[in-house]
Amino acid sequence: PPVPPMHVGFDDRSGGMSPSGPVLVRRMSDLRGLYADQAAWTAALESDDVVYEVASSPVPELEGELPQSITTILPGRVGGEFHMTKGHMHTRPRGEIYLGLSGLGGLLLFDGERPQWIEMRPGSIGYIPPHWAHRSVNVGDEPYRFLAVYPGDSGHDYGWVAEHGMGHRVFHGSGGPELRPFTFP
Ligand code: F6R
Ligand code: ZN
Repeated sequence: PPVPPMHVGFDDRSGGMSPSGPVLVRRMSDLRGLYADQAAWTAALESDDVVYEVASSPVPELEGELPQSITTILPGRVGGEFHMTKGHMHTRPRGEIYLGLSGLGGLLLFDGERPQWIEMRPGSIGYIPPHWAHRSVNVGDEPYRFLAVYPGDSGHDYGWVAEHGMGHRVFHGSGGPELRPFTFP
């Protein structure tokens, strides 16, 4: 059902929203096939830490609505590759806006041919045009958190990324994040 006008607060420490809709938790074991280094991923299953959480407001994913969510990616690396989200293409051609809230991150975009990288810090606005797959990466050593706002009828296609990759992978380097050509695990 549609929702009334509302104020949505969020907790600086947890990234939780109030009022709140569903909260999604992704642990290492939920991320099979994400990282290039499969042996490092298997070793990380031992502690099976949370990699990221996505809190949502109660705004429904319906045409005309503008759902919001707050993603928190915990710091860490797997085989030198920074913690990241699964990444997806919107099922319908819909844009999206990200706003950096805390920590240091990046937005990796891929249209099937060209990879793009947008650095995200608190206050950064990252724009995702329609037809661009997107993945978020924590390139710092504290939690990276951002607000996402997207049309309610966007839909989330994870299969597209599984099939096409994301153009680049983001590794820790001595001079900061290093973008390397994408390889399938
Ligand atoms: C919504 C959106 C974000 C992501 C979230 C988790 O369209 O782009 O809210 O859904 O950052 O990433 P995924 O969905 O790729 O696991
Ligand atoms: Zn999206």
